[in-house]
Amino acid sequence: MEEKQSIHGAWASRWIFILAATGSAVGLGNIWKFPYITGENGGGAFVLVYLLCILVVGVPIMMAEVLIGRHARKSPINAMHDVAISSGKSGLWSMVGWMGVLAGFFILSFYSVVAGWVLHYIAGMGVGDYAAISSDDAGKAFEGLLSNPQTLLIWHSVFIVMVMLVIAGGVEKGLENAVKFLMPALFVLLLVMLAYASQTSGFHAGWDFLFHFDPSQLSWESILVAMGHAFFTLSLGMGAIMAYGSYMPKKTAIGTAVITIALMDTVVALVAGLVIFPIVFTNGMDPGAGPGLMFVTLPVAFGQMPSGQIFGFVFFLLVGIAAWTSAISLLEPAAAWLVEKFGWHRIPACIVLGLIIWSIGIAALGSFNVIADVKLFGFTVFDFLDFITANIMLPLGGLFIALFTGWMVKRQISEDELAFSANAWYRAWYITIRYITPVAVAIIFVFNLLDTLK
Ligand code: PHE
Repeated sequence: MEEKQSIHGAWASRWIFILAATGSAVGLGNIWKFPYITGENGGGAFVLVYLLCILVVGVPIMMAEVLIGRHARKSPINAMHDVAISSGKSGLWSMVGWMGVLAGFFILSFYSVVAGWVLHYIAGMGVGDYAAISSDDAGKAFEGLLSNPQTLLIWHSVFIVMVMLVIAGGVEKGLENAVKFLMPALFVLLLVMLAYASQTSGFHAGWDFLFHFDPSQLSWESILVAMGHAFFTLSLGMGAIMAYGSYMPKKTAIGTAVITIALMDTVVALVAGLVIFPIVFTNGMDPGAGPGLMFVTLPVAFGQMPSGQIFGFVFFLLVGIAAWTSAISLLEPAAAWLVEKFGWHRIPACIVLGLIIWSIGIAALGSFNVIADVKLFGFTVFDFLDFITANIMLPLGGLFIALFTGWMVKRQISEDELAFSANAWYRAWYITIRYITPVAVAIIFVFNLLDTLK
């Protein structure tokens, strides 16, 4: 039988798939979001729940997404549809793909705003704006940026254009080289920062904050946030990994690839935490400072280091690249669908999608200034986009993907794709995706709901 191919192309090898998926997973979620939500949710207990979610929920669902994508070789909307039909089930399962596309729009529109902050800091570090800055001044500099809609708009627009350029170019060129050199470079620089942080007086306090388990810190909401973050950081529940799976070579073992990706993602997040919290405690800052945490702690640290401005410049540059390699995977499912459905070229597809996301992003960046008073369910637009995607849409998408793969998809398909048919690993995955993963996600949802209704 001839092997099915995607019309969009294919990754050159298993390593390229692993790098691309790691590029998608490792992003602002790891370096910006993980430390600040850990700070807001009290530290160690939150980290433990997050790690459990990666293992019990994230890894099995990532395998499910990859196998569906690779089996269908189409964009997530069509992949869900085709796999449902060939398993004798309703084509309406494509709705999961639709929800994913919407989630991708929402995420990218606020993600681009934060990536814009990163671009601003790259420029600022480049011209020496933060040399020897105090923690007070670093806080003021960040607030100054947020209060300035023009500056935010410029950087947001630049970032959206950067994303459109890569997606317009297609899967095979561009991405591969970026990821191959830049991810390892980011890793090395994080280790340099870790070496610095380990010398600060707050290192122990930072370490304890991350790893000291204090169950009294846990609420149902913080458990939901931890699970939501597991989805967010692994790029799950919206089709990004499914789309990348559809370009994956047939012979690659899905299980080991997925574990490699999850492991790299987790290590980057933990190291980022071990860099940021010691700086927080050394300088008497507040770990619960919220979205600005990375942007006020790191400039202070770079300000104190020899050659700190150069390190700072390179560091923010790499964070920007990590954001970039994640952002493209947010757009790819929708772009691939437009190409499949209407036979469009990628360029018009990108322009249409880019404009939609750019517009939603304007509302998100206004949340920090002109429309700060506009609230949706008590959230600013920015917080709302973040909350409903990470804590509701992604887990819900993931829940449906788990139920679909575990209960609807013909067993033959998952056995073939995972290629460890009938052995113990397959059985372990199968039981997890049928029972454990959906039950875990459902419990967290239900208890959280009961808790808010109380
Ligand atoms: N995983 C990315 C990060 O941690 C964000 C992302 C979410 C990317 C969902 C794609 C899909 O920054």
